[in-house]
Amino acid sequence: MTKTLQSNAIRPAGPSETYDINTTDESFAVLKNLFSEYGDFVRVKAKSRRDDSYLINNPEHIKHILLKNYQNYNKGVGFERVKMLLGNGIIVSDGAFWRKQRRMIQPAFSKAMIESQVEMVQQCNLARMEKWMALAEAGSEIDISYEASDLALDIVLRLLFSDDVDTILEQSGENPFAFLTEDPTRDIQVVLKYRSLMSLLLKLIQARRTTTKKYNDFVAVFVDARDKESGEAMTDKELLDEVMTMIVAGHETSAITLTWVWYFIAKYPHIEQTVQDELKKAAINGAPGAADLEKIPYIRQVTEEALRMYPPVWLYSRKAIVEDKIGDYIIPAGADIFISPYYLHRNTDFWDEPEQFKPERFAVQNQKDQHKFSYIPFSAGPRRCIGDHFAMVEMQIHVGLMAQAFRFELVEKNTPELEASINMRAKNPIMLKIIKR
Ligand code: HEM
Repeated sequence: MTKTLQSNAIRPAGPSETYDINTTDESFAVLKNLFSEYGDFVRVKAKSRRDDSYLINNPEHIKHILLKNYQNYNKGVGFERVKMLLGNGIIVSDGAFWRKQRRMIQPAFSKAMIESQVEMVQQCNLARMEKWMALAEAGSEIDISYEASDLALDIVLRLLFSDDVDTILEQSGENPFAFLTEDPTRDIQVVLKYRSLMSLLLKLIQARRTTTKKYNDFVAVFVDARDKESGEAMTDKELLDEVMTMIVAGHETSAITLTWVWYFIAKYPHIEQTVQDELKKAAINGAPGAADLEKIPYIRQVTEEALRMYPPVWLYSRKAIVEDKIGDYIIPAGADIFISPYYLHRNTDFWDEPEQFKPERFAVQNQKDQHKFSYIPFSAGPRRCIGDHFAMVEMQIHVGLMAQAFRFELVEKNTPELEASINMRAKNPIMLKIIKR
């Protein structure tokens, strides 16, 4: 029998109807009503799951789950679909195995390693700029959702495999990673493409184990990594799972963020002007380098504000291992916990005018009184996104370069409709008129 921790603990209020919270458009709408009706801590009886769901929208309570007592919370509902692609990669694994893998992977995200990748990010962007220049000269519109996705995929693949990417593309004819944004459970074709990609990557990993050529990329770090307790390397399967995890976790999230950044810059002339003033003052000519990034804090703030308004990972879940007490509330063992950055970032107890796009919120002087756990686009605590720093570097280089060369106008003035799947993005492609400066 489960022992109750505190007799004075309260059971949170919630609706009498049952509902299975998940990463769907319907849940997105349901959450809004539940938070406005029942406040920041809501209990929902699940329809087809055994355990009740708890929706949490208060930074102190979120801090408890993600940081103070994180060991009591495993990854929860919604990871089944990604598990098909990612096996036991670090975004889905838990406990001792997750800890071991995270430790082995961490060196790939060291400051020095990320700095050594800046040139690659610059090159990818310079190549993209040439393509955009041709579009601008032809007076075309660009589908920024597609462009950002294609660029972010190129970058994450080069981060992993450096120039081996070109060999992979040559051997496959078409881009074998292109299907990754599709739902793997929906289509047998996707399953087949997935299998063929796996065997291609496996061959590549095996070749890397024996090559004498020196690579400076993530696969090289993963191949060399040794568990500090057992001294063992990752198996082929473990390494493959982590490679797929990096692609899936790092590609669409970055692409969606870039898309929103351009959307907001195109929408608000005063923001576009502040970006221009900042670039002029910083006297950066061409793609920003590592030392330039601190000179363009406003571009960083625009990115942070885009991530506040539209966090790509809009809902994440945990499962309580044993009973816990959060604030005054009791959480039984097995409870499904849901945290939504999208709604947290609109909690008016912590954010003024949350529907207004105001990058200056993230200026250092305005951040002093902001609750750290009121802003979690990259999550927080030990399971915080491992790629957060790289993602910000990637965005600043991209925006810093492209804003010198182009200005953009929105083709469609209405606010885009949202699609709240595993990632949240605009339902339809965002089209921009691209104009050479
Ligand atoms: C703007 C871009 C990005 C956003 C918004 C983002 C967001 C997130 C969030 C919210 C989580 C935690 C999910 C949870 O706790 O359930 C996460 C985890 C993770 N992210 Fe990111 N991410 C981004 C970019 C990247 C990049 C570029 C990479 C790698 C190249 C990456 C790799 C990962 C990995 C491996 C994890 C799992 C970490 C762990 O559980 O130990 N992400 N990300």
